[in-house]
Amino acid sequence: MTNRLFIAGNWKMHGSLQKNAALITDITSKITRELPVDVAIMPPFPYLAAAALLLKPSSIQLGAQNLYLGQEGAFTGEVSGAMLHDVGCRYVIVGHSERRTLFHESPELVGNKVKAALDAKLIPILCVGETQQERATSQTEVVIALQLQAVLDVIGGQRFAELIVAYEPVWAIGTGLSATPEQAETTHAFIRGWLIKNQVAEMQGIRILYGGSVKPENAKALFAMPTIDGGLIGGASLNADAFIAICQAACALQAAGK
Ligand code: PGA
Repeated sequence: MTNRLFIAGNWKMHGSLQKNAALITDITSKITRELPVDVAIMPPFPYLAAAALLLKPSSIQLGAQNLYLGQEGAFTGEVSGAMLHDVGCRYVIVGHSERRTLFHESPELVGNKVKAALDAKLIPILCVGETQQERATSQTEVVIALQLQAVLDVIGGQRFAELIVAYEPVWAIGTGLSATPEQAETTHAFIRGWLIKNQVAEMQGIRILYGGSVKPENAKALFAMPTIDGGLIGGASLNADAFIAICQAACALQAAGK
């Protein structure tokens, strides 16, 4: 079964009102028709509402990069899923390796954030992946299984089917060093196998994205792999031409029956 490909731009902590308007206008002026794939961008919190307005005439959707638990409360500096939904987000990234590492998010917190996102009617993009050292010591599958299990423990198999999973090897993020299509495919196949083994409902329909130095030059070869359903794009999503080229690579594959 082929899933509809999904291309998501994770802007991280980049942008300004002016730069974002120019970038979004550039992208939406070149992606004018309905696409055979899903496309979303994830700007920083302060720019979401402005981005929602700019994206309105297009088919490109909006997402956020993080959320906190609950609907509202005394959590200075945090933003809830309900607020993200309110300003027009459809997606939210949860458990990005930068949050797990720099902000000490535990697997349990990531599980609870996934639940909070689902409760707020957002589609969580759950990031999993191993560090260079974990790969070198053959821990990749153990680490990813633990990250997936922590989420399954909180939400159960039925709700897991509503997620998008992003495999992001930490050593490939922002380094220019992408996993090869074969390396990515091997881990994607492991993730899909894990979902099947753990009886996650509709596991075949769950999209598994690859992230980590995706560029126009390597996008097609990565997305052509059987269990890769698109990409989570960091650096290259800040350049309209590069992001559009990546979207076009996905469109061409989807049109060719991927
Ligand atoms: P990158 O980032 O494309 O710049 O490697 C990907 C990500 O962190 O989502």
